[in-house]
Amino acid sequence: MGLIEDRSQRKFKKMNDCTIIIIGITGDLARRKLIPALYKLIALGKLDKFLIIGAAKEDTRIDQILDGAKHFIHPVDEAVWNLLRSSIHYIRVDAVQEHDFFALHEFVSRLEHSCNMAGNRLLYCSTAADLFCPITENAVKTGLIKRGSGQLWNRVVYEKPFGYDLRSAHAINSCICRLLEDEQIYRIDHYLTEQIVSSIALVRFTNSVFEPLWNNRYISQVQIILNEKLCVGNRGGYYDKYGALKDMLQNHMLELLALIGMEAPKELTGEQIRAERSKVLKQVHVVDALIAQYNGYQQEPYVRPNSPTETFAAAHLMIDNPRWAGVPFFLKTGKCLDKKDTAIHIQFKHVDCLLTQKCPSEPNYLTIQVTPNPSFFLTLNVKKPGFVQEVMPVRMEFCHNCIFKEGTVESYEVIFDEVIRGEHSVSVRFDEIEHAWKIIDTINDMKLPLYYYERASHGPNEMEQFEFKHGMRWRA
Ligand code: BG6
Repeated sequence: MGLIEDRSQRKFKKMNDCTIIIIGITGDLARRKLIPALYKLIALGKLDKFLIIGAAKEDTRIDQILDGAKHFIHPVDEAVWNLLRSSIHYIRVDAVQEHDFFALHEFVSRLEHSCNMAGNRLLYCSTAADLFCPITENAVKTGLIKRGSGQLWNRVVYEKPFGYDLRSAHAINSCICRLLEDEQIYRIDHYLTEQIVSSIALVRFTNSVFEPLWNNRYISQVQIILNEKLCVGNRGGYYDKYGALKDMLQNHMLELLALIGMEAPKELTGEQIRAERSKVLKQVHVVDALIAQYNGYQQEPYVRPNSPTETFAAAHLMIDNPRWAGVPFFLKTGKCLDKKDTAIHIQFKHVDCLLTQKCPSEPNYLTIQVTPNPSFFLTLNVKKPGFVQEVMPVRMEFCHNCIFKEGTVESYEVIFDEVIRGEHSVSVRFDEIEHAWKIIDTINDMKLPLYYYERASHGPNEMEQFEFKHGMRWRA
């Protein structure tokens, strides 16, 4: 039998028998998230028969890659680590070179053969979006990935952002859809698999207390905030082509908005939720936006001198439907800020003041905190202790990690697990991506001025005018 075997001849083995091929293994994502997630799945016994092949353009060794990833695993169990180490291999591959893919396919087949693996394959594109089409073309042309599903499965995962704009997203999508069946394609957004985020739809639609209040009669505004302390670091080569609007707003933030804004799905299934998310994204329109860059960004490695890329973005959006008419959605994200904080703040309307002395200073908020300290909390006004007839805000809180000490999983663990099981709930539908790009393209067409801000600050000073103009104040 040649090295490139006819895989249809092999016997079907467990679903878990799987070869994971990561293109872009030398990148930041693989080091910080993908390899630690695979380590955790091995530790949990979720991957019992597996092979991992890392590929990238660099001449490097697998030990060097693993050394970089080990820092992101706490604590390290040496037995699990050794198992990972003995199952992971590296091969140099230039994603645009067809002959490199023949070599990759041969390498994969040889290892699968010697390890008696069935040949279920998960190809993970941890690369920039402009490589998605060439990678898929080369993988299919060389037989590394086969179209369709028989007894064996072949699936391909595409990291966000899916494209650079609406046009490029369309081009990539038609390329991959020509080569693969829909069920083989996973366009992912890791925020959707965060424990707290993945519970938003469930909490909204399994508690009758929310639905009557979840509309413009009771909600006055929604804020979605993704502040990051991290600066661009060594990701300048990637980041400088995208910026905050394309790296964060187009995907993570608009998916959060969709989860808050969507109508009740017919059933709480991945497919129905995706359909509702898509409908609401289609109804979004842009009112205003602001972009800025942190001082010193242009001196970061791999960033262009005089780069116009924004590292901070804020937007005022509206959803054009009866539920949300008149309710502003404010989104804000930035790198190199004073803190890491990811949260959605749903602000309820003020009540008429019935107190004779001080009125409630605060409206009620439902806050969905993703990081730090994943939680849901409701800010209520309660009576101050003592003889006064005054109120003060307190929190009624569901702290996820306090209650569920065990069993918490990281986003990328969920992604690998679900893709291996053939679940599509981690996947984003193309129409969601399409609507999100239309929003970002509209903001980019506004030709906004670029402001600047200090590192470790709240963002640009011009944010104050934005707040004033829209009659709002950021919660963080
Ligand atoms: C990624 C972005 O998708 O999300 C990064 O590319 C960002 O720029 C990261 O830092 C934030 O994710 P998390 O899970 O750390 O909040």
